[in-house]
Amino acid sequence: MSAKLIKLWRIKKKNCSTFNVGVETRVNEHDVARLSPDKAARLTQLERIDPLRLPRHVAVIMDGNGRWAKERHLPRSLGHQRGRRAVRRLIESARRAHIPVLTLFAFSSENWIRPQAEVDSLMHLFAHALERDIEDLHANGIRVQFIGERERLTSQICELMARAELQTVQNQGLHLLIAVSYGGQWDILQAATRMARTAQQGWINLDDSAQVRQCFEANLATQDCPPVDLFIRTGGEQRISNFLLWQSAYAELYFTPCLWPAFSEQHFVTALNWFSERNRRFGGVEE
Ligand code: FPP
Repeated sequence: MSAKLIKLWRIKKKNCSTFNVGVETRVNEHDVARLSPDKAARLTQLERIDPLRLPRHVAVIMDGNGRWAKERHLPRSLGHQRGRRAVRRLIESARRAHIPVLTLFAFSSENWIRPQAEVDSLMHLFAHALERDIEDLHANGIRVQFIGERERLTSQICELMARAELQTVQNQGLHLLIAVSYGGQWDILQAATRMARTAQQGWINLDDSAQVRQCFEANLATQDCPPVDLFIRTGGEQRISNFLLWQSAYAELYFTPCLWPAFSEQHFVTALNWFSERNRRFGGVEE
């Protein structure tokens, strides 16, 4: 690693509450120049992205399964099944890129109004994916967590979720959050309610704004995760659709017309490269 990169790495480590765990094992443009042509040629595009400019938290609205299926005269449920393959691809790419946190919007609070047959097929797909994929995720050091209103899910799904969370809780690799029956407004309301109860019991001082913020954020479903840096939505729509509203306050929004089942590692690399060129000021001015 070059001296400049080591220095930047130290600065970033000092300034970040949740640090990009894999950054020291990755290479950037400067290092690529120092590798043998053979080794450099073997690096994937994912591994070439400047590790200092990677997002700490990527959130994805996986939209377009239905249209992908319709274009091929297939049932919507097949679009969701192909969507699951794209989920597996993205998790693997995010793991290899050393992205610390990835949150996927699998089913929103509003999706309950879909035809019962589609809701059932999606729930069946989640249960099946949980049973089939959890060992693999665990073997790859991925910590799995679910966010959303569990009261609305069947006891079978809740059990599978709890088992997956328990099995992977100690894993130190990618932290994967799957939002099921999740809505950003629900999240804010439940965090506010819990905070109000904490205040009623005298545990926090409501006049201390730093304490209020800390307590509120600790009660969000995402708890100690860093805020969303990169918010991706596939399928061509340009809206946030009640996903991670508080957490995405300063996220960079990336919209792509690509329908979710077709989302590949190349699409992800393009999004990460786009993100790496953003000039993020967080309300300040450029130095
Ligand atoms: C939105 O596309 C997609 C969903 C509501 C479901 C997302 C589910 C998956 C990607 C399947 C597997 C997920 C996991 C976590 C195992 P849409 O149906 O609204 O598409 P449309 O806008 O084209 O109709």
